[in-house]
Amino acid sequence: MLNATPPFDALMDITARPHAVFVRGEGAYLWDDKGKRYLDFIQGWAVNCLGHTPAVLADAIAAQARLLITPSPAYYNAASLELAKALVDASCFDQVFFANSGAEANEGAIKLARRYGAKHRNGAFEIITFEGGFHGRTLATMSASGKKAFEPLFEPKVAGFKKAKLNDLASVQALINGNTVAVMLEPIQGEAGVWPATDQFLKELRALTQEHGLLLIVDEIQTGMGRTGRLFGHEHAGIEPDIMTLGKGIGGGAPLAALLATEKASCFEHGDQGGTFNGNSLMCAVGSAVLEEVGKPAFLKAATEAGLYLESELQKLSARHGLGEVRGRGLLLALDLKLPIGAAIVAQAFEAGLLLNSPQPDALRFMPALNVTREEIGEMIDQLDAILTKAGAARRVA
Ligand SMILES: Cc1ncc(COP(=O)(O)O)c(C=O)c1O
Repeated sequence: MLNATPPFDALMDITARPHAVFVRGEGAYLWDDKGKRYLDFIQGWAVNCLGHTPAVLADAIAAQARLLITPSPAYYNAASLELAKALVDASCFDQVFFANSGAEANEGAIKLARRYGAKHRNGAFEIITFEGGFHGRTLATMSASGKKAFEPLFEPKVAGFKKAKLNDLASVQALINGNTVAVMLEPIQGEAGVWPATDQFLKELRALTQEHGLLLIVDEIQTGMGRTGRLFGHEHAGIEPDIMTLGKGIGGGAPLAALLATEKASCFEHGDQGGTFNGNSLMCAVGSAVLEEVGKPAFLKAATEAGLYLESELQKLSARHGLGEVRGRGLLLALDLKLPIGAAIVAQAFEAGLLLNSPQPDALRFMPALNVTREEIGEMIDQLDAILTKAGAARRVA
């Protein structure tokens, strides 16, 4: 345990953070440098799908680190070939490019679509994305995002992204023109507050994009790797997209992401794409260890059951406190608070030793490890119940 807290000001101040310093994690729990324990329903932002410091990951990292960390992307390495094959076998896609972050994988998807447009659609380059969507923090992925707060930032934006409305096919149709090459969306808009694309909308979007010869890109950085109870979120709708991006859960907490494409869409030529750390052996070994666990039918069944249990407990909590709907799927759920009290609830939860996230002022988001237990869900609900009771009493007094 650390005795002296290191100075905070050596880090760039890019977000407001509570002055606690985390030093250890195990399963559903984190500990700070004062020894205080926190129940974690954020899990690295929907990242630690197996919880904190799972033995399978620690073993995979240690074993691969002793064998080979990276031979450089100029050469094949066994770990990346193995993971690419496993991802292809588990999905409707034919080829994989590994990246180091979700934004980088999405940047690759955007480049791949533009490459496809240059090759097959007379230079078409526009990608239809969605209001409220979130695709990352590089210039192109911020431009692709439909997050209101990004609008005034870092002008001029990267051109070529038109925004449609989620679950409104006519709004997509209205934006298609000769320059359009692709439609890109999250199966569930996570950062916007957990707003799902309906299965019907995804089906109709697949049919529409096929009719117009457009690529369908699914950003599964948050919804992929079992988060919704299926390995990939789009599987619920029974569709086969042309391109998919993965991040977050694929590394179980380690920085790994991937861009997957069907044979038809996989059209990069030498020199188009690359990167020093892309497909390094160390991270790919981690990815294989995660996929082996998450891909097990019993694991996904248990995650689905945990999601249903969390959903029903949140619905009971909502009814008790007069709150709004519970939305989402699997273990990516949001509770509508009806009032802009999200930040206050998160701060009180932190004090009480519970990590929660409020992606929008009036919503709480729940993204625990996929192997979260009923007891841990019960513990979270009890803590949140107490906080909501206090908040309700405070509102009644005021
Ligand atoms: C749907 C989606 N796409 C992309 C990203 C960006 O991923 P990263 O933060 O790894 O760059 C995120 C991160 O929250 C995300 O939720």
